[in-house]
Amino acid sequence: MGQALWFASRATGLVTLPLLTLSVVLGVIGAARFATPRWPRFTLAALHRNVALLTLLFLVVHVASAVIDPYAKIGWLDTVLPFVSVYQPFWLGLGAIAMDLVLATALTSMARSRITPRTWRAVHWAGYACWPVAVVHGLGIGGADSSLSWVIALNVLCAIAVLAALLWRLRRQPHPDLTARRSATVGGR
Ligand code: HEM
Repeated sequence: MGQALWFASRATGLVTLPLLTLSVVLGVIGAARFATPRWPRFTLAALHRNVALLTLLFLVVHVASAVIDPYAKIGWLDTVLPFVSVYQPFWLGLGAIAMDLVLATALTSMARSRITPRTWRAVHWAGYACWPVAVVHGLGIGGADSSLSWVIALNVLCAIAVLAALLWRLRRQPHPDLTARRSATVGGR
């Protein structure tokens, strides 16, 4: 049973990473107001939301199986409090930081109507940091798995996807919506 849980944790970690990547890529594309007749903005937004929820679901299974498995003696607190675990404190601590950022992004999105747009945006921006932190956590803690060629390929593909989305966004002409919002913000909101 213990070994099954440990394998489950590693497998779900390896599924969480591409899901998180897809969620970040969809977020970047959506934030640039990308839309086509086939992919209207609301479809992209719904896809981003659902992929983010799926990421959270796999993340919960990833973390729960690591905690329930008695082998590494990981406690629930170690999953949200960085660098306090007995098992691999540094690499697991990075996982905990990524977890906190995912949770903060999810919770502020659920409470979006009750917080200011500025707060929501600030937390969502901080959420970007979750992706590199999660990648380093996976590569560092993954041990022998991290040197498997398909695991390296998965990480490289995820990195290419995020970098391509960011570069595309930087090179894209700002949408009139965004220009209007920026001038309103400069105007003192
Ligand atoms: C967004 C957050 C996270 C992502 C994307 C993620 C992803 C990953 C990945 C890709 C691996 C490597 C699996 C392998 O190569 O076998 C991994 C391993 C692992 N992660 Fe995470 N992780 C996250 C958060 C966490 C958190 C909060 C914990 C705390 C319990 C955690 C605990 C572990 C453990 C125990 C391993 C396996 C270590 C081993 O095989 O020795 N992860 N994770």
